[in-house]
Amino acid sequence: MFHFLSQTFRDFKHTGAVWPSGGNLAREMTSSLRESTGPKRVLEVGPGTGPFTSKILQSIRPGDEFHIVEINPFFCNVLEKRLLKPFRQRHPELTVELHQSPIELAPLQGTFDHIICGLPFNNFPPSLVRDIFKRMLGLLSEDGDLTYFEYAAVRAMKAPITSPQSRRNLRRIDAHGKRLHRQHRGSRQLVMANFPPAVAVRLYQPAS
Ligand SMILES: C[S@@+](CC[C@H](N)C(=O)[O-])C[C@H]1O[C@@H](n2cnc3c(N)ncnc32)[C@H](O)[C@@H]1O
Repeated sequence: MFHFLSQTFRDFKHTGAVWPSGGNLAREMTSSLRESTGPKRVLEVGPGTGPFTSKILQSIRPGDEFHIVEINPFFCNVLEKRLLKPFRQRHPELTVELHQSPIELAPLQGTFDHIICGLPFNNFPPSLVRDIFKRMLGLLSEDGDLTYFEYAAVRAMKAPITSPQSRRNLRRIDAHGKRLHRQHRGSRQLVMANFPPAVAVRLYQPAS
């Protein structure tokens, strides 16, 4: 908790929250992994201190690959020490790679069956939101799924207290999210038992 707060104060734009996600949201965000059969490639973007990472690790089996992309070196250190090093010691045969990089530039090869994304899109300029979704959807395999989350009603709550330019940005981010929802058979699941309550959004890559 302290680790997360320290980064919130240091870099709110990228951290985008005051609190790490809770167990109920982590379960919802990773539910497609538990329905998955056969070997899978999984990508997590923006793990922070790792509430989704620990759930994902529970579903990694021989033959799977798990890649993690985190921009903040401090969070990378915390993740490596707390979760990844002990996991690799217990399961030396499994492939888990941490890339310290923005997702826009991360050196990833091939496509992924499941992408779990914890980025705070409402803190970003609309052009960056578009570029990041373009990158992630480009990395998603046919029939793959991409899950991200946002705090419930976050744009409606932010709008009255921000500048006109930020309001325009929030409207553009909202419109972009709605477009993706239509194009990628989107589904939304409200998780009230999280602080603050959040909505997990799942998009699918249509088979061509
Ligand atoms: C809202 S926090 C979410 C952390 C965690 N998934 C959770 O739910 O508690 C956002 C995370 O995304 C990371 N991040 C922000 N921009 C990023 C980018 N462009 N590429 C990769 N990670 C990024 C931040 O450093 C932070 O760890």
